[in-house]
Amino acid sequence: MAPHGEKARAENRGLVEMGSDHWLDALLGRAPRRPAALAVPRADSALKPIPGDRGLPFIGMGLHTVRYGPAFLLALMRRHGPVSWWQAFGRKVVAVAGPEAVQAVLANRDKAFASGWPAVIGPWFDGGLLAMNAPEHLADRRLVQAAYSEEAVRGYLRLMVEDLDERLDRWPVGSRFGLVSAARELSGQITTRAFLGVPHEGVGQRLVGAVEECIRAETALARVRLPGTLWHRAHRSRTWLIRYLHQAVPVVRARTTGEDFFSVLSRVEGLSDRQVALHALFTVIASHDTTTAATLASVYFLGKHPAWQERARAESVGVVSRDAAGVDRLATLDLVVRESIRLVSPSPILMRVAVKDTEVLGHHIPAGQLVSVCTGVNQLMPELWSQPHRFDPERFDRGGDSGHRLAWTPFGWGAHKCIGMRLGMLKVKATLDALLRRYEWSYPESYEAPWRFTSLPAPNDGLPTVLRRV
Ligand code: HEM
Repeated sequence: MAPHGEKARAENRGLVEMGSDHWLDALLGRAPRRPAALAVPRADSALKPIPGDRGLPFIGMGLHTVRYGPAFLLALMRRHGPVSWWQAFGRKVVAVAGPEAVQAVLANRDKAFASGWPAVIGPWFDGGLLAMNAPEHLADRRLVQAAYSEEAVRGYLRLMVEDLDERLDRWPVGSRFGLVSAARELSGQITTRAFLGVPHEGVGQRLVGAVEECIRAETALARVRLPGTLWHRAHRSRTWLIRYLHQAVPVVRARTTGEDFFSVLSRVEGLSDRQVALHALFTVIASHDTTTAATLASVYFLGKHPAWQERARAESVGVVSRDAAGVDRLATLDLVVRESIRLVSPSPILMRVAVKDTEVLGHHIPAGQLVSVCTGVNQLMPELWSQPHRFDPERFDRGGDSGHRLAWTPFGWGAHKCIGMRLGMLKVKATLDALLRRYEWSYPESYEAPWRFTSLPAPNDGLPTVLRRV
């Protein structure tokens, strides 16, 4: 199933190396790096400053970050070591990469790091687990965990699978369409009933639209609440979402039988109505784009590797039940998804901020410093993976290759590790299973998806795809 020779060497080159073929790559390649030290410690300190690149004034290396994602951060690590820094759009960010540095931040015994997401993306995660810190984080996580029991997750999956069939039957056959928007729309369609307990048509669509407005604002450069701006619209959407969900909690709780996430969460003892609303809202934000990104990456690699697609389809057709037990039997899809999100990690960096002066691997990190934990870099390091650029799902069966516990962490690691990992994997595999049962697709050998990393990774060209009925 593996390509050989030149083809194998060229495979996914753009994911592990900064490109050189396009005129924009040539331009970015010539941009000045302007190396400089950050956080120079006091003269009597044994600690080292952080080496890194300032890049262009204000923009810094921001365009490199968006265009190359983890490949840029891998190159930064090669140039400066596991603790380095770069500037992007006026912000100086420390990058930690490699298993030791990542572990030093995510499992920091000194409790020197807090969630850095609010500082980077804005208030859109507020009230959700990822914006919280100890001890409130731990207390809320324990309570929210009840909504992720195996029984509850099986219920959410049941609702999603019912919707999947109906929606996928309407996808166009024989004509080219953009898979990026189709996959995002599908994720929204199957999210509303399973996560919020409302049908998609009508209020469900409005809820998802408002959530997407908040997600889009995560990358806004102009962060002012002036009418007409993305930031302003996202604030209005969030206010409406919280009000809608807050008012709905007592109604949903009184129903007592709802199987969807919002209903189950509303019945968890110890959470106030407002907490239920905020956690439900963050859950939709946390699950929508991540599962879309994982689905897109898997569809892309299945289309580039027809033998894997055939093997996965044969397994899907052979498994009759479509519940969690059935999805758990799709061993090939499990390998494919794991390998796809190794190569294209939906969340390749995790944001943290130093809450006091501290150090990582002997480098001084001052209080207030933003730190980007580059888990996506670890997933591409030749020190941790053999031929990391190659799509080779069987590597997860062979063992050893991914042996280091911090080599494969698309769901994060430590206190904030994804609480929805099981549900996320089930949702992605169930979506692919439903797709494989109906359609086949492929991408030309010469086609390499132009992944971009503005927010979560997605092909810049919309991933044009033609489906054929099987
Ligand atoms: C393939 C799909 C998914 C991926 C790749 C993913 C990835 C992640 C990552 C990397 C984190 C940790 C972020 C950090 O430490 O800064 C995280 C946290 C989280 N995820 Fe996911 N996620 C996925 C699906 C889901 C789903 C389906 C849900 C809920 C239904 C969910 C809910 C959450 C929540 C609530 C947190 C915060 C946990 C905490 O702070 O304690 N995720 N996810």
